Amino acid sequence: KTKVAILISGRGSNMRTLIQAAKDKDYPAEIIGVFSNRADAAGLAYAQSEGIQTAVISHKDFDSRESFCEALDAQLEVWGAELLVHAGYMRIHADSFAQKWLGKMLNIHPSLLPSFKGLHPQQQALDAGVKIAGATVHEVTPELDAGPPVMQAVVPVLDSDDADTLAARILKVEHQIYPLALKQYIEKRPNNDVETADQTSLVWPN
Ligand code: GAR
Repeated sequence: KTKVAILISGRGSNMRTLIQAAKDKDYPAEIIGVFSNRADAAGLAYAQSEGIQTAVISHKDFDSRESFCEALDAQLEVWGAELLVHAGYMRIHADSFAQKWLGKMLNIHPSLLPSFKGLHPQQQALDAGVKIAGATVHEVTPELDAGPPVMQAVVPVLDSDDADTLAARILKVEHQIYPLALKQYIEKRPNNDVETADQTSLVWPN
């Protein structure tokens, strides 16, 4: 199995779905550790309750992005991580870190990328007046939210939506696609080519 570390900063609901999926003996990933840059990330307790090692290193204890990322990298090496899965991890990596792990990182973002990168994508979607929204699992490259999509899912935007109701609808499909996307990504990896990540899936309507 591929040794996967999950990076979180908060609630960790996507992390939960990945931990659950990885319990299947046929699932190609083993979750070997959960890292958080915040000690108060709620997801840490869940990971521990599932018997998964956790580590917390606060970015606030470092004076540069590079030095924090070096500490993160050292932890990942201790765990023997082969792939990094970002699940609500809210720090941008130093370029050197992103280059080192290039081709070995996935992220999930609650928009149909390349629309609405960065913060508050659900509010960005509402402000733009789009009628569909969704989630994207994508490879992480040094440029924020710009790596090639691996899998996407769409949901409707309702006239009655606010950012919270839209976020909740998107989160449901995030939980559907992230375990699928990770599995598919690992299974295609022997000839991994970041240019040809090609499989997408439409989760709405379901
Ligand atoms: C999820 O909606 C995820 O897509 C988003 O944060 C939330 C984390 O929830 N990630 C980003 O916005 C990354 N830029 P979770 O901690 O419950 O998985």
